[in-house]
Amino acid sequence: MSKPLTIADLKKLARRRVPKMFFDYADSGAWTEGTYRANEDDFSKIKLRQRVLVDMTNRSLATTMVGQKTVMPVALAPTGLTGMQHADGEMLAAKAAEEFGVPFTLSTMSICSIEDVKSVTSKPFWFQLYVMKDRGFIERLIGRAKAAGCAALVVTADLQILGQRHKDLRNGLSAPPKWTLNSAMQLATRPQWCLEMLGTKRRGFGNIVGHASNVSDLSSLSAWTAEQFDPQLSWDDIRWIKDLWGGKLIIKGILDEEDARAAADTGADALIVSNHGGRQLDGAPSSISMLPKIVDAVGDRIEVHFDGGIRSGQDVLKAVALGAKGTYIGRPFLYGLGAMGKEGVTTALDIIRKEMDITMALCGKRDIADCGKNILASQPF
Ligand code: GLV
Repeated sequence: MSKPLTIADLKKLARRRVPKMFFDYADSGAWTEGTYRANEDDFSKIKLRQRVLVDMTNRSLATTMVGQKTVMPVALAPTGLTGMQHADGEMLAAKAAEEFGVPFTLSTMSICSIEDVKSVTSKPFWFQLYVMKDRGFIERLIGRAKAAGCAALVVTADLQILGQRHKDLRNGLSAPPKWTLNSAMQLATRPQWCLEMLGTKRRGFGNIVGHASNVSDLSSLSAWTAEQFDPQLSWDDIRWIKDLWGGKLIIKGILDEEDARAAADTGADALIVSNHGGRQLDGAPSSISMLPKIVDAVGDRIEVHFDGGIRSGQDVLKAVALGAKGTYIGRPFLYGLGAMGKEGVTTALDIIRKEMDITMALCGKRDIADCGKNILASQPF
């Protein structure tokens, strides 16, 4: 394939390069994947307003997310097992984000640890927290994120129990892969990936291995979440975490106005309108269809961020037009990473930036700060 021009191009390349269990892990939703598909499909229902003969020079996409400058309203989302899309994936993605000028969010369920990412970056990154029953472990984890100088803590609220993704069960997903005939065949067809993976020691859950106890199978995301994640997590715990952390706090996984009001009541700095990329409650509405309702409910009290279904710079611009102060991309950067390593992440960011910039100009705007509902011809939600 010639130079990738779209996120879909990167996805095609990643599918060829990454073993099936890890490509599918990124590219899957829960159960029927209906919500996963709706996240993407609903963007196409929003129409942009074409404006002509206005000055289009000196355009700027720069903005802030929780007070941090970013060259465009896009951060890299926290994604589990990123270091299985490419060897040392979180370190490469964090470096690409830093050089590009957008925030990088490290997942609790990453392969490279907080300390690994810290060792290759010079600006603060963000850390995403899953809350486990073992509160001692959580205190230590938050302490490690503080010690690494992380600039924001993103607490995920919508994964106390893991949604079922059929592909992961069928593929025998684990990190590192277990030696079965099924996994051996998946790996045998991806020799370049295997070679690169042999060159790193980071092949398990870096934030967990050596730091947590009482886990029967540390390589299995489903065993780990079922045994360790706290199904009783509550708004009171969010207040406890907020006090313990003491810095910028973002609550991820809000899809309901009532929950949005509760998130604003905690005094958090931002919430992320999200259905976890359609990976949790299949049958829930698309993320973009809920964004305007949540902005109406709490937009004057808390910064509203957005994720779910973004596959282009146009999608980012539509989310911004509907009131998102910032957005997150997960799969687009994972496809870039799987396809081409660090360069692929930069390519994904660049594709999105260019699409956003040209679209903004053709909507007659020069500054992202001026892009609201005024750039939409119709919005169905
Ligand atoms: C973890 O965050 C997952 O969605 O698998």
